[in-house]
Amino acid sequence: MTAHFARLDVLVNNAAILYGTWQSARDADLAQLREALETNLFGAWNVVRAFLPLLRRSPHPRVGLLAGMGGGTPAYRVSKAALNALTRMLAAELQAEGILVNAVCPRWVATDMGGAGGRPVAAGAASVVWAATLPGDGPTGGFFRDGRPLPCDPQANAPRCGACSSCGACSEPRAAAKSTRLGRQTGPGQPGCG
Ligand SMILES: NC(=O)c1ccc[n+]([C@@H]2O[C@H](COP(=O)([O-])OP(=O)(O)OC[C@H]3O[C@@H](n4cnc5c(N)ncnc54)[C@H](OP(=O)(O)O)[C@@H]3O)[C@@H](O)[C@H]2O)c1
Repeated sequence: MTAHFARLDVLVNNAAILYGTWQSARDADLAQLREALETNLFGAWNVVRAFLPLLRRSPHPRVGLLAGMGGGTPAYRVSKAALNALTRMLAAELQAEGILVNAVCPRWVATDMGGAGGRPVAAGAASVVWAATLPGDGPTGGFFRDGRPLPCDPQANAPRCGACSSCGACSEPRAAAKSTRLGRQTGPGQPGCG
């Protein structure tokens, strides 16, 4: 890649799998947890590392990691919590180089994963575009939705509950079917942004 491209200005880690509404933390299938971590955490981690040389060639490099909350989806939720931790570590390590790294929640969006009832894809994408076009003095290491810090982000100066789906940030009902690579499940009344 470094031989073929001059630089990379924006890296968005979008891929994710396994919105497993049918599982609980008590009896989660750990094989599925490993599968979720493989894509949702290690995949994103590898991609950032692979593209760092090209990002370093950009005058205004930005990295956006698609996070979420996923109440009641143990594998997905653990993988996204870990992605938030990764965001904070990368942001701290790369800040001196001017690389801004933030996690973004697009809210519940009507994609294959989100199913019907979520907001339009363009609205979710706008949340990501905001993070991708931050000015040089913009935030780094935060967790944002629609350009605003989420309450469970300590940078928002709000109490940390340690359980994102309970913090009140995602109170809208979720009644859509959620698709994953392992099948489609319906999770009526699930809280959260995914
Ligand atoms: N939709 C929501 O309500 C919502 C809410 C909060 C956060 N998010 C986050 O937003 C991001 C996008 O979600 P989405 O709703 O667009 O999901 P989606 O409709 O299921 O799309 C996921 C995308 O990830 C790709 N992907 C999955 N595994 C991959 C792998 N190993 N390598 C490369 N690509 C892979 C899929 O590619 P293929 O098409 O080839 O399978 C697909 O294009 C995810 O990180 C999700 O967690 C979504």
